[in-house]
Amino acid sequence: MAPCYNRIMTKTRAKSGGGPTVWVLNGPNLNLLGSREPEIYGRATLADIEAACAVRAKDLGLALVFRQTNHEGELVTWIQEAKGQAQGLVLNAGAFTHTSVALLDALNFARLPTIEVHLSQPLNREPFRHVSYVTPASSGLISGLGPHGYELALLALARMINKS
Ligand code: DQA
Repeated sequence: MAPCYNRIMTKTRAKSGGGPTVWVLNGPNLNLLGSREPEIYGRATLADIEAACAVRAKDLGLALVFRQTNHEGELVTWIQEAKGQAQGLVLNAGAFTHTSVALLDALNFARLPTIEVHLSQPLNREPFRHVSYVTPASSGLISGLGPHGYELALLALARMINKS
């Protein structure tokens, strides 16, 4: 049986108390990291990535909400809810990246600083992965750097939020 990933996971308090809040949202099959095509995605689990993000967020004075879902509608709802509750988003939408106009519409509604993240480098893979519906609504894109990409995305968001 596939590992069951807690739908709504970390809520880490920022070092300073009420620092800006960043939501890290993960899409389908990312609950399988660690055992899913390790030659592409590596051996780190989503829980490992969450733990690294929690440490990094604390250092940066960010409060962190870290979630994963296999359902497109749930991801859309979370992006809608992020407006007003989060100051920035890190989004690895998994395969929905390449298919979901609904995600693009939700991101255009939320209008939050958003960093699109991929563990792998989609441009080096199958042609259907070369299209992203998320990129047009993203402030930046980090791909091909494995789990480290999530931490870099938090750093980028912290800088963007502190400048605004
Ligand atoms: C992914 C890349 C997508 O093409 C794929 O469908 C995923 C993971 C990545 O992190 O590399 O599920 O978003």
